[in-house]
Amino acid sequence: MLKLKSIKKSYFQGNQKIEIFENLNFTLDKGKTVAIMGKSGSGKSTLLSLISGIIKPESGEIWLDGVSYSNLSESQLNDFRATNIGFIFQNFHLVSYLNALENVMLPAKVCKISNPKEKAIELLKNVGLSHRLDHLPSELSGGERQRVAIARALIHNPKIILADEPSGNLDEQTGNEVMDVLFKLIKENRITLILVTHSKEVAKRCEKIYELTMGSLREC
Ligand SMILES: Nc1ncnc2c1ncn2[C@@H]1O[C@H](COP(=O)(O)OP(=O)(O)OP(=O)(O)O)[C@@H](O)[C@H]1O
Ligand SMILES: [Mg+2]
Repeated sequence: MLKLKSIKKSYFQGNQKIEIFENLNFTLDKGKTVAIMGKSGSGKSTLLSLISGIIKPESGEIWLDGVSYSNLSESQLNDFRATNIGFIFQNFHLVSYLNALENVMLPAKVCKISNPKEKAIELLKNVGLSHRLDHLPSELSGGERQRVAIARALIHNPKIILADEPSGNLDEQTGNEVMDVLFKLIKENRITLILVTHSKEVAKRCEKIYELTMGSLREC
């Protein structure tokens, strides 16, 4: 379902070259859940950005559901991402002036979603936030914000969810509750998940655990 072949990616800081991936290969079947662990700076977030098409590799190829990113124009890639990929970030990335319901409905502005309001209300119910629909992010707790972010990542029925340390900012119990919600929805909707985490406990919820070291992914 997802395939990365011979990915090369480096960053330039002034004239200093930081090589992240020289020849990264990875495949992931549909509906599978995998955790990616690895030291800070090893390239985990870079990997998610490559998979989402937000950044481009210097060489190599990425396919999602048989579609090769390099065959898409910039606007086709934006549409493709909006339709197929859901994101959950460590620091939630909610829009501060929109309430919970409006934040969850936001992807409907770029993707075709039928009955976005009903769907958003249903998802917020699923994550246990029916009573917080009109709260702004600043009026929600950290765990509640992350549950809004999970609902938002699911509203367009993505094929794959990319989650970058989604429980990293939460206390252990709240983090576990948020992960319970995420895994329940992932299973129910048979969505593929790539979860970056520093927590072994969180990683164990996935079917496979990989460690990113020296630019390659090793199964643990
Ligand atoms: N835009 C950029 N320009 C230059 N260097 C960058 C850029 N983005 C990331 N880097 C460097 O690339 C390396 C990998 O970054 P990345 O964010 O992918 O790491 P990570 O594994 O997600 O780390 P963490 O666990 O701390 O989130 C880091 O050393 C970082 O400093
Ligand atoms: Mg990171």
